[in-house]
Formats: sequence, structure tokens, C-alpha cells
Amino acid sequence: MSKKDHWDTIYGQKAEVDLSWHQDDPTVSLDLMLEAGLTSKSSVIDIGAGTSRVVDRLLELELCDISVLDLSECAIASAQGRQGDSGPKVNWIVADVTTWETSRVFDIWHDRAVFHFLVDPMEQISYVERLYNCLDLGGHAVIATFALDGPKKCSGLDVMRYSPDSLSEVLGSRFTLVTHRFHLHRTPWGRAQSFQYSLFRKQL
Ligand SMILES: C[S@@+](CC[C@H](N)C(=O)[O-])C[C@H]1O[C@@H](n2cnc3c(N)ncnc32)[C@H](O)[C@@H]1O
Repeated sequence: MSKKDHWDTIYGQKAEVDLSWHQDDPTVSLDLMLEAGLTSKSSVIDIGAGTSRVVDRLLELELCDISVLDLSECAIASAQGRQGDSGPKVNWIVADVTTWETSRVFDIWHDRAVFHFLVDPMEQISYVERLYNCLDLGGHAVIATFALDGPKKCSGLDVMRYSPDSLSEVLGSRFTLVTHRFHLHRTPWGRAQSFQYSLFRKQL
């Protein structure tokens, strides 16, 4: 089964409360974006957004340049359906982040629980190239992954676990680690999952 089929099947068959990563309020993500200087004028892309509430919070903050990207058509359709008419404020993109091509840049790149699925070093390199090319100079990335004491698998797939420092090493010297948070996520059925959220700035 392709990765796209894997994720489409999950979003097609499961309710939100059956998704381990679901959270009603993406507080840590928003806190770090605010620390990165998020304003209503910022352009933000949520990578592998799934049905996350990040886009809802950004719309509440009156941003009008939001992009939401996911490999799963089904997840994008569901997130888009929830917004009703968000008009030109949200650009919905069905794509694989490791092969996606764009010529535009963003102020903030957000990724919660996507990079950690890239276990192949070549995919990691492709991701980091896109991250670099898509961020404006001085732009920021918030990247949340399972922490070193987090789960070894998610949704039946192997994952990589990171500390802020080991993630920083993979991203390379073109990104500066600004700050980080450790966060214990509770799945909808109450199991604890250890995450690290790191905020990076693209070097000037
Ligand atoms: C664990 S979920 C996290 C969803 C969301 N970020 C959140 O925090 O609720 C992982 C998401 O990454 C997406 N995904 C996995 N691999 C991807 C890839 N290579 N490119 C784009 N999206 C991908 C999946 O479809 C899924 O929505």
C-alpha cells in the first residue's frame, strides 16, 4: 500500500477521537508560532496538517495567508469541509512534502508529527531542502516530533524520535534552534505520548 493510500484509509475509516494524535487545542504549536513573531500578516504553512485545528486557530487570529498541506486527500477534504467558506485565506494542498514543488516562501512552517515518519535519510534531505527553500530569510519553523522517550511507532508505521539537539543536527547549520518545549500529549483515550516541539530560525 502506498503512503497516500495508508493515510487516506485511516482518515476515511476513523473518527477524530480514534486518531492518537488528535488534539482539540494545538496550544504549544500556537505558543511557539507567537514566539516566532506570528501576526495577522504572517504567511503560514501547516505541513502534514491532517485534520488539525491549527488552521482554525490561525483563522481566529485573522491570518489571511494560510496554506494547509497533506498527503491525504481525505484529510484535506475533511479539514476544508469544517471551514466552510474560508475563501482565499486558505490554500489547500494535497501533496507529499518530500516531492512537493513551489516557488513561494512563507514566514512560518509548522509540522506536528510528520517529519518523524521520514525514516529514510534521502526523504529527510528532501524535506530539509524544501523547508529551506520555502522559508523566507529569518523565517521560522516549528517542528514537533516524538521525543526520545516517545512511542517507536504511530499508526502502524515506524518513526524516528528526536531531542531538540538531534533534530537540530538533522536540519543542519542553516537553521538555528531558538527554543523548545517538551509536551506530554494525551491521546483521546488518555495514553501519554512524549513530544518535543522545537522552534528554528532560518539563518540570515
Ligand atoms: C500523525 S498525523 C499528524 C496530523 C497533524 N499534523 C496533527 O498534528 O494533528 C501525520 C500526518 O502527516 C501526513 N503525512 C504523512 N506523510 C506525509 C508526507 N510525506 N507529506 C505530507 N503529509 C504527510 C498524514 O497524512 C497525516 O495527516
